[in-house]
Amino acid sequence: MARIALLISHRGNHRLLHDYLGSAHTLLTATEVALKQDPPHLVLTDLSGLHQWQTALSEARKAWTPLMIPVLLLVSEHGVRKALAQLGGIVDDLASKPLRSVELTTRIRNLLRLRAISEDLCGRLNDTAEYNNTLEQQIRERTESLQRTLGETVHRLTRASEFKDTDTGNHIRRVCHYSRLLAEHIGCSQTLAERIFETAALHDVGKIAVPDRILLKPGPLNAQEWAIMQQHTVKGERLLADSDSPYLQLGAQVARSHHERYDGGGYPDQLAGSAIPLAARIVQLADVYDALRTPRPYKPGFSHQQALQTICIGDGRTHPEHFDPQVLEAFEARSSAFAEIYAALADPPHSQP
Ligand SMILES: [Fe+2]
Repeated sequence: MARIALLISHRGNHRLLHDYLGSAHTLLTATEVALKQDPPHLVLTDLSGLHQWQTALSEARKAWTPLMIPVLLLVSEHGVRKALAQLGGIVDDLASKPLRSVELTTRIRNLLRLRAISEDLCGRLNDTAEYNNTLEQQIRERTESLQRTLGETVHRLTRASEFKDTDTGNHIRRVCHYSRLLAEHIGCSQTLAERIFETAALHDVGKIAVPDRILLKPGPLNAQEWAIMQQHTVKGERLLADSDSPYLQLGAQVARSHHERYDGGGYPDQLAGSAIPLAARIVQLADVYDALRTPRPYKPGFSHQQALQTICIGDGRTHPEHFDPQVLEAFEARSSAFAEIYAALADPPHSQP
């Protein structure tokens, strides 16, 4: 039994409608609120009812969307022209007055079928939307899982390089943190700053390919050994290059160019200025700061102030011109955070010479 809302002002029509439809359907006298909150199966109205309820019906139709609840307008012959103007807007069909039971019940039956089809389609749409949501959720979860796997693989790769190097895992962690700090300060997006944080860990991955006799040599390197040592940049890039992953592509740039200097005096390509990838310019400063702070068999570790002064003023070997000016400015602005990172991720005493 369909629920039919009567928006009819003419009392005679009311009585007639009850006579024709009352036994087969539930006839409701709708209110504006009920129209929206408890939608009927069909609305029956006449021209004066339509005039009175036009705004409410219009709003209710928007609220019902995408469900189609048919509106049938009862109209006399001389009102047809006015009624046609409403057709397709608020009204779906016309039934002529004076009312005839057969015409009215036939139109109502057809309109209720239309509504049922619309309801079925809405259900399918909901099912599709629900299915799409589930699918999107699964894709999100698998993407996150892939990201985690990639992150772990890279992490293990950096661990492999740690086995060979005198640097500790904490050196790598500190460089990652400094790099993110610098990236954020110079206005990189959060996504890029995070990617730089992760790929900074790969800066020295090419040291896997450097022979131990050079990598672990306690004294200064001769020219030939130094040339081989410098190759860790090229080897690192070769290890990471040609990947479809933007993450590894950035890692390859960092590995190759983190010893370039802004003034063109670095290696392996003697790139200068913006020809050096931004992530590499960031990691370069982070790496230099940490190298200055870290004690070596042949040198003591600098204090934060000494390292700050060496980078910002220079000391004969290191000059401010080596660094991208905006990265250098970010370093000066956030230098106290550098000191905090170094202290929080300090090397364990047994790893220091
Ligand atoms: Fe390096």
